[in-house]
Amino acid sequence: MRVGVFDSGVGGLTVVKSLLEHKIFEEIIYYGDTARVPYGVKDKNTIIRYSLEALEFFKNFEIDMFIAACNTVSSHALDELRANCDIPVVGVIEPGVLALEKKIQNKDANILVIGTKATVKGGLYNDLLKSKGYEQITSIPTGLFVPVVEEGIRDGEVLDSLFDHYFEKLNQVDGVILGCTHFPLIA
Ligand code: DGL
Repeated sequence: MRVGVFDSGVGGLTVVKSLLEHKIFEEIIYYGDTARVPYGVKDKNTIIRYSLEALEFFKNFEIDMFIAACNTVSSHALDELRANCDIPVVGVIEPGVLALEKKIQNKDANILVIGTKATVKGGLYNDLLKSKGYEQITSIPTGLFVPVVEEGIRDGEVLDSLFDHYFEKLNQVDGVILGCTHFPLIA
């Protein structure tokens, strides 16, 4: 099986790492759209257009499955991707919620969802978490982490001040959804 993995930049490599660890595919082809990152500040139509262009790129490689290793794309373009190819298209939102469900069974837990502006605005995590019974959900767009990760920064002052900027007023959190594939790199 040959899989195509797509993200706006380096973030989707966190998904590739996991695919390699689980030895699921014989061949992985990765497309990171570093020329146009970040996607998270763009409007839905642009995200859809870029995603369909990525799909077009993969048509040269006869892939058996397409993984949108990007929460922003998974939030806004999965239907359009599925409508434009006849291979399975998988996103990362549902798997993220399933992973949380395995770790946190208490439905009163305070769940923090962080992601790009587009992902938070799309509201898919909220909808899915609510449909599973979670009630206490706080969503914060933290898109500035994306260029910082693209820049290769993994710790230090810049990140510390971003953490203060985004999370200063946050109360108790029992679980966090890293709703952007760039974020595991600074988890
Ligand atoms: N890594 C992406 C995500 O999971 C997108 C980051 C961006 O391009 O803004 O949402």
